[in-house]
Amino acid sequence: MRTPMIAGNWKLHKTIAEATSLASELTAAVASNQNVEIVVAPVYTALSKVAETLAGSNVKLAAQNCYPEPQGAFTGEVSPLLLKDAGCEYVIIGHSERRQLFAETDESVNKKALALAEGGLGTIFCIGETLEERETGKMFDVLRQQVTAGLKNLTTEQMKTVVVAYEPVWAIGTGKVATDEQAQEVHSFIRGLLAELYDAQTAAATRILYGGSVKPGNVDGLMTQPDVDGALVGGASLKAEDFARIANFEPAA
Ligand code: PGA
Repeated sequence: MRTPMIAGNWKLHKTIAEATSLASELTAAVASNQNVEIVVAPVYTALSKVAETLAGSNVKLAAQNCYPEPQGAFTGEVSPLLLKDAGCEYVIIGHSERRQLFAETDESVNKKALALAEGGLGTIFCIGETLEERETGKMFDVLRQQVTAGLKNLTTEQMKTVVVAYEPVWAIGTGKVATDEQAQEVHSFIRGLLAELYDAQTAAATRILYGGSVKPGNVDGLMTQPDVDGALVGGASLKAEDFARIANFEPAA
């Protein structure tokens, strides 16, 4: 019932030429994959060129961030309206790097979520606990707070275009992937929370991606978990072959 999503977060990597070349290698490698929604998120400057490369393919475009106002005196910012204009269908918000390095808060993430819903863009909404929060028993409280505050005032209708990405901070870029069971435990908690905040139908329909050191070698196990609906991939999305293998995952029967 939930279409799996495999999304590549290219972070601050690749020139326009490198990004378009990766995009064209990737579209060739995943051309026969019709069952998965495949998304890539290049840097802002490469978006419109990559959009041209992806045109007519089964790979969609996302941005890595946005500013929640459509236009105005906001030097250096980019709005949902402009991202849509550049060809984006999704925007990643609340990534832990933005929370840690750029002072993003649940409140600012919430403004972005509301602006994206207004602007008709899909949202990839990231949450995740630090190792310390996990080890001191605060994980579920932290995740509850991030979900509740980050999605505040989003209607049930608007939730249809939201994808949640659970990315434990300790697993991002560390090579230390969550176990299949750890991912499933948290995804099931998040789905329960969505049922509490919205309703059972919304919870059942919302895709929950896992992110943090997803690689060709561990994606199949993760995707076998009932509440893992896809992956948000950083490092391994920078190589077409690896990302294509992740998108073409083969869950155990
Ligand atoms: P990683 O990054 O796959 O390199 O761990 C994931 C992410 O930051 O979304």
